[in-house]
Amino acid sequence: MKHLKPMEAVATLYASGNEADSEAIVASLSRTIFGAHGLEPARPAKKILATVSHRVLSWTTRTTKSETADGAVATRYSNRILERSGHGYAHALMGSSCHTTESLVEGGDPMNSQYMMICPEIRANCEVWDRLFLDSVQAKDVRLRMVWETLATYDEAKRRLDSGKSVRLKAVAAGTGLSMILVYDKLVRDGFDPTRISAEVTDRDRANIDKANRLMDKLPTTRERHTKPGTGQGISARAEDIFMDHAEDVLATYDVVTAIGILEYFHGHTYTTTEECMGMQPPPDAASALDLVQRLHHLLAEGGSLIVNTYRRNAATRLLEVFGRRFDYRNRDNLKALMETGGFKLEKHMGAGHVYDVEIYSKSPLVV
Ligand SMILES: C[S@@+](CC[C@H](N)C(=O)[O-])C[C@H]1O[C@@H](n2cnc3c(N)ncnc32)[C@H](O)[C@@H]1O
Repeated sequence: MKHLKPMEAVATLYASGNEADSEAIVASLSRTIFGAHGLEPARPAKKILATVSHRVLSWTTRTTKSETADGAVATRYSNRILERSGHGYAHALMGSSCHTTESLVEGGDPMNSQYMMICPEIRANCEVWDRLFLDSVQAKDVRLRMVWETLATYDEAKRRLDSGKSVRLKAVAAGTGLSMILVYDKLVRDGFDPTRISAEVTDRDRANIDKANRLMDKLPTTRERHTKPGTGQGISARAEDIFMDHAEDVLATYDVVTAIGILEYFHGHTYTTTEECMGMQPPPDAASALDLVQRLHHLLAEGGSLIVNTYRRNAATRLLEVFGRRFDYRNRDNLKALMETGGFKLEKHMGAGHVYDVEIYSKSPLVV
């Protein structure tokens, strides 16, 4: 893996085969995240660059409307600077895989290439465009968010295992589930009895789940414990829309649930939204953040831990708005107020970047 650039690393990680490189990437991610990771939010110079980039891209980006096969109207973004870069992240910024995802950041390869930058060996292979796209204010924050999510999930799982209990973990809207795979891999390598651990990765996008399954088939700690969803042991991945009730979910509750990079697409308890800032009509979306919090409440066992994030507006997120992304902005107070609607209490602040804070909330045990 010493020769891989970030976009190549992510393709290698999620393709079939390439076992040795995939193992090396996961080992390097794990060493960095669970060691003294040394990652920090962007410094002032990068913040200035984000402001300048936002201005330049606002001036130079053109939009066109086209009709998709299903009759919907899709917006296409074009920008000669980005096109000339030929970088996968730039292409993802200008378009999305389908009409229903055009206002959100998808959890595919471009997002995961930002995580590849956590590995010192892969960072060393970066080119100029990699640094511009994958070492920006937003990218550094996305990495920190993943590091805090992983450490929080691990700590919460370990605390329960250390006290002799079993633990059920679930990541919703998990993208390719890399954070949960790293947690499971570390717990097993720590020597915890795998029969006491169950971990589930879910995401609406089947392509993400296929990638998670391919990666789990390759790693020594997950390939033998890679189980069918709902068997109550081992690690599994399945496609699931968080708002759809699945039969096997009705009684299933989890001790630790992560919902990272998802609340910012749902309205309610915000300090502002993209639509408010840009004078646009609010989207006619069916579900709100309160609905999502209610759903998370049902998923979590009494006394369980929920890991979520804030989303603050700045030049880095406004840059994404230029390309049609729409966000609901929450600071820590907004998040706390939202979580309280689901009976959640703030337990721990894992860390703060420019965009994200990651926090652990608990679901209070029932008072009998
Ligand atoms: C910004 S990505 C975050 C992915 C991952 N949590 C991470 O931090 O890398 C948002 C993810 O939410 C998923 N998603 C969006 N709406 C969803 C829904 N209703 N149910 C489940 N997943 C959803 C998308 O497919 C996408 O992978």
